Amino acid sequence: MLKVAVFVSGRGSNLRAILNSPKLRKLIKVQAVISNKATCRAFKIAEQYSINQYVVGNEKKSISYNNLSKFLKSLEIDLVVLAGFLKMIPADMIVDFRNRIINIHPALLPSFGGKEMYGMNVHKAVYDSSAQVSGATVHFVDETYDTGNIIVQRCVDISEVDSPEEILEKVLAVEHELLPYVIEKFALDKIIVSNGRVKVLS
Ligand code: GRF
Repeated sequence: MLKVAVFVSGRGSNLRAILNSPKLRKLIKVQAVISNKATCRAFKIAEQYSINQYVVGNEKKSISYNNLSKFLKSLEIDLVVLAGFLKMIPADMIVDFRNRIINIHPALLPSFGGKEMYGMNVHKAVYDSSAQVSGATVHFVDETYDTGNIIVQRCVDISEVDSPEEILEKVLAVEHELLPYVIEKFALDKIIVSNGRVKVLS
């Protein structure tokens, strides 16, 4: 079983998609759900599935960002999944978990990524650009926001949409399939990184 930690900050619909996946149930164990926000909705989902929840940050009883990598190692985590986590991952953790931290982004990177590009900001920017396709990207996490090597992308036709909210809806539906798919490939050892390019074996 692949031991997974899922990092969240908000709603948790991707966390739910992971936990609801019948395929993943046989392949992975979500050991921890970690958030910078003690009150996030995603923690409620973790609670429903009896998964331990941890807060990361500076408050009392939180795991500090300095100790995060050590903490994940103590849980023997194989894969870290950022599913709507809005904070920067500490540099030492990126090194310790190189190519073992993945993030899902609600657009087709390398466009519409970067520090302020999260949530509705992304879909508004896509809408305002008049882009005719959007989509979801799962990529490795490196030292800066949204720049790590891309693992898988899926496109969505948005030529008919009338609002950023409609884009969000369409993209989110794709995310809920794409993220479990990539985690499954990880668990099956079917993600190969060679010379900076990523291949997903069928
Ligand atoms: C998703 O759109 C994801 O791509 C982005 O943040 C959002 C999280 O949504 N990184 P949820 O909390 O999984 O519902």
